[in-house]
Amino acid sequence: MQAREVVLVDGVRTAFGRAGEKGFFWFTRADDMVVKIIRELLRRNPQLTPDTVEENVWGATTQEGDQGLTLGRTSAILAGLSDACSGFSVDRMCAGGMTAVTSAAAEIALGACDIAIAGGVEHMGHHPMGATADPNPRFLADRLVSEDALVMGKTAENLHDLVPELTKEMADEYAYHAQQKVVRAYQEGKIQKMIVPMTVYTKEGWVVADRDQQPRPETTMEGLRSLKTPFRVQGKVTAGNSSGLNDGAAGVLLMTADKAKELGLTPKMRLVGFAYAGVRPEIMGYGPVPSTKKVFARTGLTMNNIGLVELNEAFAVQAIIFMKEFGLKFPDDPRLNPWGGSIAFGHPLAASGPRLMIHLMHEFAARPDVRYGLATMCVGLGQGGSVIWENLQTTATPDQAAKE
Ligand SMILES: CC(C)(COP(=O)(O)OP(=O)(O)OC[C@H]1O[C@@H](n2cnc3c(N)ncnc32)[C@H](O)[C@@H]1OP(=O)(O)O)[C@@H](O)C(=O)NCCC(=O)NCCS
Repeated sequence: MQAREVVLVDGVRTAFGRAGEKGFFWFTRADDMVVKIIRELLRRNPQLTPDTVEENVWGATTQEGDQGLTLGRTSAILAGLSDACSGFSVDRMCAGGMTAVTSAAAEIALGACDIAIAGGVEHMGHHPMGATADPNPRFLADRLVSEDALVMGKTAENLHDLVPELTKEMADEYAYHAQQKVVRAYQEGKIQKMIVPMTVYTKEGWVVADRDQQPRPETTMEGLRSLKTPFRVQGKVTAGNSSGLNDGAAGVLLMTADKAKELGLTPKMRLVGFAYAGVRPEIMGYGPVPSTKKVFARTGLTMNNIGLVELNEAFAVQAIIFMKEFGLKFPDDPRLNPWGGSIAFGHPLAASGPRLMIHLMHEFAARPDVRYGLATMCVGLGQGGSVIWENLQTTATPDQAAKE
């Protein structure tokens, strides 16, 4: 069976809210956020009639309540896709949405369908991390993993232990730059166009959620230095150099290159390859290193070929280890998260993978000179995921580019 070319035609996300009663999505259902994304993808691409979408795949870490009942199917019905559109849900914790995209892409590549919507959602306000999990007691009783493995912030402290030259000061410096980049990107209007505004009911009445709630533009190095270290006494990981607890959804529209042409839709990027890899759960933030090495080995590319990297910043320490491993310049290599990352935007777990891809899509448009981009992230219990995309928003035609 010959694999077919898979292209990403469009992508959009909700604003990311703070989890909890102060967040603007507190009274909003997670599945309604997914519906908003699907409807917006249809609205922005009128050539795509609802009956042409054949598969709808969604990632969520907690698959119960408003994230349960097979989101891929329920959201297809709620969004008015046709009865014939199949749907399913996946869970790879933080990489749930990334896995939804790569699973849908694999279906398209192998000829199981031509057009799919895929994404991720996490309402961490309604579903606090791990709250209803029931880990097998053997994990701890048989010492299969240490207790740290179940608390992500502790795994980040472990990374500091693993690479002692990586100080708290460096983590704070990284976080400071991450916040500054988001300030600039918002000022330049780069983020607003990725977000579909959603009118939501809150304790203050109806509001339009059209801007992320998490960024802290007022961040200073002094402020960061003074924060508590909730995961270890005299530790290094703080609320300032970690991603936050957030609600949000993000999704993309995928199809074969031929179908995009037939419908008159402009493909923005082409899937080149993807890989997932496992690491010890206690150092889960190291995951993007082996998954990126794996995708490089499988595609024949190296970091020298990559013009843009969208790395999910679960924790600053984990981002810095990735930079160190692949020779990116600390604290703010121009190739890495040029418009900011999860330390500022927030990290609604399964929504973050598609968010990285949506960033790449927009960054590619601004950088027609860049051919390849990487989206990569770490995953709870010790995994990494890496996806390479080719920029189709270049002046060169894909045929010319292929001959380079
Ligand atoms: C680190 C964590 C525990 C902090 O949670 P929290 O205490 O609810 O966070 P808050 O936003 O209330 O911030 C705590 C304090 O730090 C302050 N703060 C946060 N970021 C700051 C910044 N950039 N500059 C200055 N102060 C900051 C807040 O103002 C707050 O101060 P206060 O206590 O005086 O009100 C939580 O964000 C977390 O668990 N993050 C990791 C999420 C995760 O594991 N995801 C999965 C990854 S694999």
